Amino acid sequence: MTDAVTQSTDSLSYFKQPQEVRTFNFDTQQSKQLHTFSDEIAIIGGPQATGARTKASLAATELKFSLSKDQCELLNAYSDGLISLLIFEGLQKITDASPPDELPDLPLLENRYDVLCMAARNQILLKLVDNRAFAYDMDNEGQLVRLVANFKGGGLKKINAEPEIKELSSHSGLALGPHTEAPYWCAIDAKDGHSPAPSSLILSALWNPGLEPTSVIPLPPVLEKIGVTNCLALTTGGFQFTRSDSFVSGKGEDGRNVSILEFNDKVGFAARFNSYRFSANEGTSNFVKSAYAALCQGVAETTPYEYTLTQESAIIINNVRALHCRDVIKDNRRVLVRIFGLSKFSSPLVISEDPLLLRG
Ligand SMILES: [Fe+2]
Repeated sequence: MTDAVTQSTDSLSYFKQPQEVRTFNFDTQQSKQLHTFSDEIAIIGGPQATGARTKASLAATELKFSLSKDQCELLNAYSDGLISLLIFEGLQKITDASPPDELPDLPLLENRYDVLCMAARNQILLKLVDNRAFAYDMDNEGQLVRLVANFKGGGLKKINAEPEIKELSSHSGLALGPHTEAPYWCAIDAKDGHSPAPSSLILSALWNPGLEPTSVIPLPPVLEKIGVTNCLALTTGGFQFTRSDSFVSGKGEDGRNVSILEFNDKVGFAARFNSYRFSANEGTSNFVKSAYAALCQGVAETTPYEYTLTQESAIIINNVRALHCRDVIKDNRRVLVRIFGLSKFSSPLVISEDPLLLRG
């Protein structure tokens, strides 16, 4: 009897919740080394280039030799899916160039050396937490690197050629409500011909002159607040979503009969949600509808964790454990560099390995 009690207490401690937001600090030497490795990937063309994947992997392995025990433990905790937001600080500045008043066209910006270097650094940082940089075939033109900036209007100030209809995506200046990144079919394992949602997204800022923050809402406290019956109702396929504006034209679609939460043996729970794209299926039960309302209310009542990115920092958001959102863009010179990461637990549908392209 005593044994049984001890054993159950031990196994409970395994599920003890770690702090959801953690910071990893690079020392000067480590940061220099990371910069050198990033440079080597930028030279061959950045994360999109064949061979970048191997270089990022080798760089991460090499960097790990110089890390302290505490640093390694923090990376492992994120890698194991137990942290909502991992902040990297102490990174080297990448460029002294100031942003132009008007951003150039996307392709011009994407091919800048400093952008490639920052993207390469993101790819290595993802690899430090056992995430592989990847792209979906039907999103972001099949490219790994996405620049998050107001190219399509909707910000506080108009851009040149401000369009009439604003796209609700990271290429506009609109405020974006709490969401995880699409696609929303499944979270960890591929299902019905769709790869899972991104496990992670990493962001760093090439320019953020207005010091505009990125907001993150860890889900564990929200789920605890709404209670077990509501959480169970969120695991039913009672929800639908609308197509994302970042999808390649003619590809990707609306979805029906998906869940918001799922239980997973490796990470506990995994979530998919978008406050401006999801809704409860019309014919679904009142239990499910009220669970959805409770989730929306719980999210709305949460004060997000705000982080202001610079060139010297990066954040990795756990896309199955946390939501993110942002206010309307106030300074149109703001440019973030984003890459999706796939965790060691995810099983996707692979189209090509190098660079890693998945069926969405
Ligand atoms: Fe997003």
